Amino acid sequence: MIWLALFIGHFWTVKTFENIALRRHAWQRYPFHGTPWNATYAVDGRRSDLAPAGGQCAISADDKSIAEWRVDLGKVRNLHHVFIQYRTDNVAWDENDYFKSRVLGFSIYVSNTTYRNDWRLCFKDNKYTRATIPNPISVTCVMHGRYVIYYNNRTHHPFPAGYSTYAFNDLCEVEVYGCLTLGYYGENCSTPCPENCKGGDCDIVDGTCVSCVPGYSGSMCNIVCGACYEKEQCDFKNGTCPNGCEDGYKGRQCKTVCTNNTYGPNCSMTCGHCLYLYGEKCNHVTGQCPRGCASGFQGDLCVESRSEFRNTTLAWSTYNATDKFKNKTLVRPMNDAYGPPVLQTTVQVPFYSIIIVVVLFSVSGLLNLFFISRQVLARCRNREEKVDESVEQPNTIVNSIYIQENGFSTYQELEHADQKVNNDVYTSLA
Ligand SMILES: *[C@@H]1O[C@H](CO)[C@@H](O)[C@H](O)[C@H]1NC(C)=O
Ligand SMILES: *[C@@H]1O[C@H](CO)[C@@H](O)[C@H](O)[C@H]1NC(C)=O
Ligand SMILES: *[C@@H]1O[C@H](CO)[C@@H](O)[C@H](O)[C@H]1NC(C)=O
Ligand SMILES: *[C@@H]1O[C@H](CO)[C@@H](O)[C@H](O)[C@H]1NC(C)=O
Ligand SMILES: *[C@@H]1O[C@H](CO)[C@@H](O)[C@H](O)[C@H]1NC(C)=O
Ligand SMILES: *[C@@H]1O[C@H](CO)[C@@H](O)[C@H](O)[C@H]1NC(C)=O
Ligand SMILES: *[C@@H]1O[C@H](CO)[C@@H](O)[C@H](O)[C@H]1NC(C)=O
Ligand SMILES: *[C@@H]1O[C@H](CO)[C@@H](O)[C@H](O)[C@H]1NC(C)=O
Ligand SMILES: *[C@@H]1O[C@H](CO)[C@@H](O)[C@H](O)[C@H]1NC(C)=O
Ligand SMILES: *[C@@H]1O[C@H](CO)[C@@H](O)[C@H](O)[C@H]1NC(C)=O
Repeated sequence: MIWLALFIGHFWTVKTFENIALRRHAWQRYPFHGTPWNATYAVDGRRSDLAPAGGQCAISADDKSIAEWRVDLGKVRNLHHVFIQYRTDNVAWDENDYFKSRVLGFSIYVSNTTYRNDWRLCFKDNKYTRATIPNPISVTCVMHGRYVIYYNNRTHHPFPAGYSTYAFNDLCEVEVYGCLTLGYYGENCSTPCPENCKGGDCDIVDGTCVSCVPGYSGSMCNIVCGACYEKEQCDFKNGTCPNGCEDGYKGRQCKTVCTNNTYGPNCSMTCGHCLYLYGEKCNHVTGQCPRGCASGFQGDLCVESRSEFRNTTLAWSTYNATDKFKNKTLVRPMNDAYGPPVLQTTVQVPFYSIIIVVVLFSVSGLLNLFFISRQVLARCRNREEKVDESVEQPNTIVNSIYIQENGFSTYQELEHADQKVNNDVYTSLA
């Protein structure tokens, strides 16, 4: 059953990943000199003849207590699993097969160097017996590395039941499945890893990252960290900020802006007496009021009482949030202290009234200009037409009326009067 399961698993994975060990450089300890059994035969892509005479297997020398073989994948690769076809001498792999006893207890290591200390164990057989050891066998090996090492030893007596006395390489084929290019995963290694994975690489099967570049969290590193204190990296899995939040934010992930009339470090400060017109709040980081202070208060934070106007140091010493804003907040009140006391609170309220007054003034001024120029034109016209002295009379009257009733409603009347005068002039002329 196990054999069948591994076999099926093998066929699925063969389709998904490619054999990146094929015809790579291989090496083994204790080669059997003068034989066609050297290390490279295990990566030659052939496994039709599983007997030594076939020249397709890597077999090590007799009477050795250590067996060691490795393949060099050229550079660090993203690995998924290792497939091994053992020597059988072309007889059934049953309980009587002698070669089973040589295989038991084997290990697979992955390493970036050939130094023993750098090896990282991927698989160690400590459960198979002669009855259960499959051939071929696939072992999952989701790791990164350049060398894949097959290892076995018979150095520590006594050996478990069924183990051979010596250690051998009996490797007709070793296939290493994975991706040739780091930074890709999934079927045919065709999907790029998430862009914020640290090191640009990810799990070869599901694309999850081992860790994220700063500022991101989550298994796919697609969750943006909150405002962690000093921009520290948030927890890879749960997004928690390790040392609290920047000023103006709260919550474990520092994604919540200070609310409820608070600001500053850990939202621990309470906003001053700000003037709020539309339900705003003081700045969640600095505590500055958006549009000045409520009456009776002054300063950026509106915590200074106006009656103690000149005693600036008292009010400002209560704000000790962070060094960042210390300079700013110390500079402003000094200016305020010597500036006109009216400005801070009065500028906002009467703003619209000022505009209205200015507009009214300009309108009436324009109207005045209009009438005066009209008057002048009318006089000129009268003169050109060489009217009698007597005709001048009503005009002067009109003029005096205009000056007396200085307003919009008089315009129609004046126009009327003017026309009447002109008409009189024309009739008298006629
Ligand atoms: C291994 O076998 C190949 C093919 O026969 C041969 O070219 C190579 O020199 C051999 N290597 C060693 C170390 O014997
Ligand atoms: C090999 O190096 C890569 C980084 O280049 C590292 O991720 C991997 O864990 C190393 N593999 C081993 C077996 O040390
Ligand atoms: C040899 O095998 C034994 C038992 O499996 C193990 O404890 C020991 O570490 C191995 N020796 C080396 C050098 O790895
Ligand atoms: C993987 O490659 C096979 C064969 O080339 C192809 O049929 C299949 O569609 C590819 N799968 C993906 C996800 O690219
Ligand atoms: C988040 O993960 C860190 C480290 O794994 C742990 O210390 C912390 O308690 C976790 N926070 C939550 C809310 O799960
Ligand atoms: C806001 O502050 C008031 C008074 O300090 C408190 O009772 C209330 O629970 C707070 N609300 C929130 C959402 O923190
Ligand atoms: C904010 O709260 C956290 C956790 O309670 C604490 O470690 C940190 O020192 C506080 N920061 C400030 C500036 O008070
Ligand atoms: C300013 O306030 C401090 C502390 O309350 C006080 O000692 C000092 O006399 C005050 N100065 C003036 C000019 O009011
Ligand atoms: C503000 O900080 C200064 C030193 O930076 C310290 O001497 C002073 O006591 C602090 N004031 C308050 C109200 O915390
Ligand atoms: C605050 O001012 C002091 C002295 O002028 C200066 O040394 C310091 O760098 C300033 N700090 C900030 C955060 O600007």
